[in-house]
Amino acid sequence: MQKPKIIALYGSPRRKGNTATLLKKAAEGARDAGAHVEEIVLRDLKLSPCLEIYGCLQAGECAIKDDFQKVRDKILGAQGLMLASPVFFYTVSSHTKILMDRFQSLWVKKYWVDKTPLEQQTSTRKGLFISVGATKGKKLFDGMLLTVKYFFDVLDMELWQSLLYRQLDFQDDVLKHPEYLEEAYSAGKQFVRAITG
Ligand SMILES: Cc1cc2nc3c(=O)[nH]c(=O)nc-3n(C[C@H](O)[C@H](O)[C@H](O)COP(=O)(O)O)c2cc1C
Repeated sequence: MQKPKIIALYGSPRRKGNTATLLKKAAEGARDAGAHVEEIVLRDLKLSPCLEIYGCLQAGECAIKDDFQKVRDKILGAQGLMLASPVFFYTVSSHTKILMDRFQSLWVKKYWVDKTPLEQQTSTRKGLFISVGATKGKKLFDGMLLTVKYFFDVLDMELWQSLLYRQLDFQDDVLKHPEYLEEAYSAGKQFVRAITG
């Protein structure tokens, strides 16, 4: 039997920061549960922001040719997406947001080019979201969770679980919380069960 495919997207500019460490753990858990996990570090890609030229109105294809097409096809070809981004100004990092905005071309394809009725949305696949922020406010993740939910929506993915941790700021802060790492590992394992049903 083929292994279920998962993409792990690293959205922080910090390679070994808190979200990266947590996502690594989730990826390890998913692999231990039998999934094939491909890791993609967004800061290593050549990605232009959306230029709002709406070249995608032609056939739902983004007109800007860079690493977007490659990463889009990988994400669309996977049963699950694990996304990790720190809180930057109460939303996702700019690396993450640039990728999200480029998926407007998929939104245009679905709803304007192919004319899929909005109520016909189906979540056939699943997403796991990981985030951390430095502060401890109750609403710390409220803004980004809306952004993330609607990003997964356009991918036909249900936001299956979010792991959100407050009061982590310096690169290694998460290492002081082995229970967070344990939680990420076991979420990765359970995620494989969830996507394989
Ligand atoms: C540009 C920038 C904006 C930030 N904005 C917020 C914020 O709005 N709220 C917050 O609690 N922390 C904020 N932080 C702190 C980060 O969320 C925190 O350092 C986090 O641990 C970084 O995660 P990483 O190690 O995975 O990159 C910000 C940090 C940067 C660099």
